[in-house]
Amino acid sequence: MPSRIRVDVTKKQNAIHPFLYGQFIEFLGRCINGGIHDPDSPLSDADGFRLDVLEKVKGLNPPLLRFPGGTVVKIYHWMDGVGPKEERKRQANRIWGGVIDHAFGTNEFIQYCRKIGAEPFLVVNMTTGTPEEAADWVEYCNGTGDTYYANLRRSHGFEEPHNVKYWGLGNEEAAVPDIGYLHDPKEYVKAAWEFAKHMKLADRSIKLVLPGDKPEWNKAVLDELHPVCDYLSLHYYASSLNGDGAEYFSHAAKLEKRIAETRELLAEYPARVENFDRWYRFPPRQREIRIALDEWGIWQIGNSDDYVRDMETVYNWRDALLVASMLNVMQRQSGAVTMATFAQMVNILAPIFTNEQGSFLQTIYHPLKLYREHSGNWKLSCETDSAMLTDGEGKPSAVPCLDVSATYHDGREEIVLAVVNRDPSRPAKAVVSFTGADVPEIAEAIELTCPSWETVNGFGLDDQVTCTVKTDARHDADGGYVFPPRSITLLKHR
Ligand code: AHR
Repeated sequence: MPSRIRVDVTKKQNAIHPFLYGQFIEFLGRCINGGIHDPDSPLSDADGFRLDVLEKVKGLNPPLLRFPGGTVVKIYHWMDGVGPKEERKRQANRIWGGVIDHAFGTNEFIQYCRKIGAEPFLVVNMTTGTPEEAADWVEYCNGTGDTYYANLRRSHGFEEPHNVKYWGLGNEEAAVPDIGYLHDPKEYVKAAWEFAKHMKLADRSIKLVLPGDKPEWNKAVLDELHPVCDYLSLHYYASSLNGDGAEYFSHAAKLEKRIAETRELLAEYPARVENFDRWYRFPPRQREIRIALDEWGIWQIGNSDDYVRDMETVYNWRDALLVASMLNVMQRQSGAVTMATFAQMVNILAPIFTNEQGSFLQTIYHPLKLYREHSGNWKLSCETDSAMLTDGEGKPSAVPCLDVSATYHDGREEIVLAVVNRDPSRPAKAVVSFTGADVPEIAEAIELTCPSWETVNGFGLDDQVTCTVKTDARHDADGGYVFPPRSITLLKHR
């Protein structure tokens, strides 16, 4: 029995925000120091940016970049990363080990964002930092008046404001093992109000991202803070310790469930905030609360003590198929998720991997790039009936072979089907039908494949991922299309 994909083209469901395809960087291992920024490397430019990495990041083309953490924000003080480089501190990175030399600070981050065309997204320290320090950072970045921190930025060579619009109020504040004292939502609410007030008084136009966690935390935080919460953040890392087969892909369904539950909770809060006390002297949020999936990815948490080294994961093709499935989830849930940043970008849990001599593209780089480049800007509703993957004993598992999302691209007037065939060895035929239209022609089929689930990329190897662009691909008379084993296919219809 062939699988079925039904796409409804009678209605564009919701706009898909480009920020769905963002990236995240942190002072963690060799992500920033030794990855993005390495002034001592012959591969770097005069500003210390690794040029081979920069070129690969430009290929990835993230529209949004989150910095400086992650958990490390709990010890990060932005003033340590501005001003003359020779005076910057060498700070012990007590969260992740090693040293933060602060050679890459706020202005270097903004320069990097400008080079790659990404919108900056900063996260403030609510643990060892103060509301005033956070507001000073906002003033340093966005101030236009004749004030101390705006002038400090100017004295550092940046006459024009950086206009940073997105600010995170802490990171994973509910995480008990982390340092900090805001694990109780009541404590977080108390502190976050103060941070929000200070920061909004420095710039009324900024948007705030509040850290989410379990449903009870989310509700407790939103009940009090929903007037200033533009985005509630979610983090999701897929992990597989047992090398499980089909089960591994159930992470996509788990992620979708978490988003759907959060979406339900967010619907309890009004789209517009009424009766916001005008004596706050800044406006409340102006629209519905949205989800920022501001850390997502694959973290194969090992048992070793060197978890930073463990995070220098080499990803195989099965991981890339899961990344594509998670991107499908985000596209399907794009009515609620309007911002997402993949964790992370270089070396740590990352699509780009370096050593002192060069760098290579991990398998997971390819779906991240593909979806960013070719997905449409509207969500279409789409239903899939698929055969199931088989489990280790050859029996059908609960995980479908095919995972699909459908989008519409206004500019190109294209219906784009993103189809992941997760089966390691068998092609999957699906009959595609379109409610409200005959089956349109396939203008282009872009196919990513790889020799096996286990295939990895590495130094000195050719890229093992094959990208084939077909302009002569067709549906058969019944609308059928055969998706190769372990493939990611974008079918662009016009
Ligand atoms: O991305 C690695 C870490 O994962 C981040 O620092 C933290 O926010 C999360 O737990």
